[in-house]
Amino acid sequence: MKGSTSSAERIIVAIDEVSKDKVDRIIDATSPFIGIYKIGSIAFTAFGPRLIDEIKNRNKEVFLDLKYFDIPNTVSKAVEQAAAYGVRMLTLHTLGGKEMLQAAAAANRGRATLLGVTVLTSFDTAGLRRVGIEHETDAMVERLALLARDAGIDGLVASGHELVHLRKITGDSTVIVVPGIRLEQPSPADDQKRVVSPRGAFDAGADYIVIGRPITDSRDPAKVLRDISDSLKQ
Ligand code: C5P
Repeated sequence: MKGSTSSAERIIVAIDEVSKDKVDRIIDATSPFIGIYKIGSIAFTAFGPRLIDEIKNRNKEVFLDLKYFDIPNTVSKAVEQAAAYGVRMLTLHTLGGKEMLQAAAAANRGRATLLGVTVLTSFDTAGLRRVGIEHETDAMVERLALLARDAGIDGLVASGHELVHLRKITGDSTVIVVPGIRLEQPSPADDQKRVVSPRGAFDAGADYIVIGRPITDSRDPAKVLRDISDSLKQ
C-alpha cells in the first residue's frame, strides 16, 4: 500500500440512501473507522447540502460524487459552488471533454481534489459498443485518463482492473479512487461488472477505495470494516 496513511483513512463509504434514519445508522456505526463519506446523486437529491454540513460537523470529510457532465459554463459554476462547501473530493465525467475539464479545474482553484470518472464500473466492452463506442474498455479508460491529466484534473475514478496500467501511464501524483469493490467471491456484484477486492485494489495501486452496499446493506457495518482491515494486514 502506498505512503504512510493507514488503510482506514483510505476507505470511503458511499452513502446511497434516501432514509435519514439509515444514513444516521450507517454513520454512527462506521465513523470510528472512517474519515471520508461519499455523497452521490441519491443522497444529495434526498437531503441537499445539509448532509454535507452534518458530516463535516462530525469532523469527517465529504466526497461529493455528482459526476458533473455538461457544457463548460454550467460545470464550472457548479464546481465553484461545490468547492465552496469545503468538500474534499468532487467528480466530473471525463467524457465531457477537455474544455469542460479545464473550466472545472479553473473554477476549483485547487480547493477540492477533482476526480475524473473514466468508464463507469457498471460498463463493460459490450455496454460501450451499445452506446456507439468501439474501443475496448481498457483503451477507452486510458484515452480518458490522459485527457483528464492534460486538462489539469487531479485524479481519476477507475476500476481495479485497469489500475496497474493506469498507474504506469499517469504516474504517482495522480490520485486514483476505486469503486466497484466486493469483499470476497462469491458475493453479489449487484449492478457492478468490473469488481475487485479491497486488498486487490490497494495492491494494484489505489489511493482510496469506495465501498457502498457491502457495508451499508450489512447488518453489522463495523464488522465488515474490521474484516476489511484484517484482510489488508495479512
Ligand atoms: O454499492 P457499491 O459499492 O457498488 O457503490 C459504489 C459507489 O461508487 C456508488 O456510489 C457508485 O455511484 C460509485 N461509482 C461507481 N463507479 C464509478 C464511479 C462511481 O460505482 N465509475
